[in-house]
Amino acid sequence: MYEFKTPCINYYTQHILPMTDAKQLSLEENFQGKIDAEIKIEPKDWMPEKYRKTLIRQISQHAHSEIVGMLPEGNWISRAPSLRRKLGLLAKVQDEAGHGLYLYSACETLGIERDTLLDQLHTGKAKYSSIFNYPTTTWADIGAIGWLVDGAAIMNQVPICRCSYGPYARAMVRVCKEESFHQRQGFEILLTLSKGTDEQRAMLQDAVNRWWWPAVMMFGPSDKDSPNTAQSMKWKIKRFTNDDLRQKFVDVSVEQAKILNVTLPDPDLKFNEETGHYDFGVIDWDEFWQVVKGNGPCNRQRLNARKKAHEEGAWVREAAMAYAEKQEQRQATSISKVA
Ligand code: 3HC
Repeated sequence: MYEFKTPCINYYTQHILPMTDAKQLSLEENFQGKIDAEIKIEPKDWMPEKYRKTLIRQISQHAHSEIVGMLPEGNWISRAPSLRRKLGLLAKVQDEAGHGLYLYSACETLGIERDTLLDQLHTGKAKYSSIFNYPTTTWADIGAIGWLVDGAAIMNQVPICRCSYGPYARAMVRVCKEESFHQRQGFEILLTLSKGTDEQRAMLQDAVNRWWWPAVMMFGPSDKDSPNTAQSMKWKIKRFTNDDLRQKFVDVSVEQAKILNVTLPDPDLKFNEETGHYDFGVIDWDEFWQVVKGNGPCNRQRLNARKKAHEEGAWVREAAMAYAEKQEQRQATSISKVA
């Protein structure tokens, strides 16, 4: 059990923690002590400026990814092959919108305005996941996104439920439950295609060929080239490194591909008896960085669609603000009447 060296309040439990040592440790050491003791950091707790900035960066990129992530799939809502598929896809896309909103709210607890975050997205200053810059050209792409993209997202996000920052960790619990439904709906779409006609099986294989490597890239640069991993691991924002999560994803996906009877497009995929993991081929990091820098197949299209939706939704935000002001005025008038 971690013992606090200076008196301080844990805002999560509201406990006043005892002072056991006269020596005043620095705020930063105390902060790291709480993290090492698995005590959540809450919005009003003291935190190093760099921790706050790292969280704003990661949570906002994550929120933007959820919001932009609606676009490739939204493209198929009106073309889903049956009412059942349409309902599933609609529910999934709505879930992504919800995830974006929880995450923007979690980010706002760190003292940044939502308008600023949205502005960073719309001006191209903020990053969002590379994966959403690829096109969805067939119905099988919707299955492949569910299986591979949501599968990769869960692998990365379940550990974030144990992130040191309370609001982010708590938001992720619900997000992960929903992501697991998304992964299963995608897998079920592909399983149906795998039992279909030759044409359907070819469509499935083609989608997996196109989505496999971008999904493997989603985990970010290799640990040796990742500037943020070491510090984020120390602060328990990240619980596993990019390469560790990528390896878990590859191991799980190879087994699932056997059930779908599809070939993963990597001739170097091979089980390694020594490590107990699948070895895989070289990732095209040039492609990854091109997409991250805005030069992927759909980057411009995605940003333009987001900006257009934001502009066209201005009247909804204005109406909501006007309604809130009216409610506040009404409440103030009724309070003054009682007084
Ligand atoms: N796409 C775009 N940028 C990426 C990226 C990717 N796939 N992977 C890494 N990067 C960026 C990082 O943001 C960082 O940029 P910055 O320093 O300018 O902000 C840079 O590349 C270096 O990478 P690092 O590994 O050092 O960065 P991190 O420590 O932040 O790790 C991460 C990257 C693993 C993505 C981490 O931020 C993370 O776990 N984020 C939370 C999860 C998330 O955002 N997932 C996005 C997908 S959400 C989703 O898929 C929705 C679902 O509905 C399908």
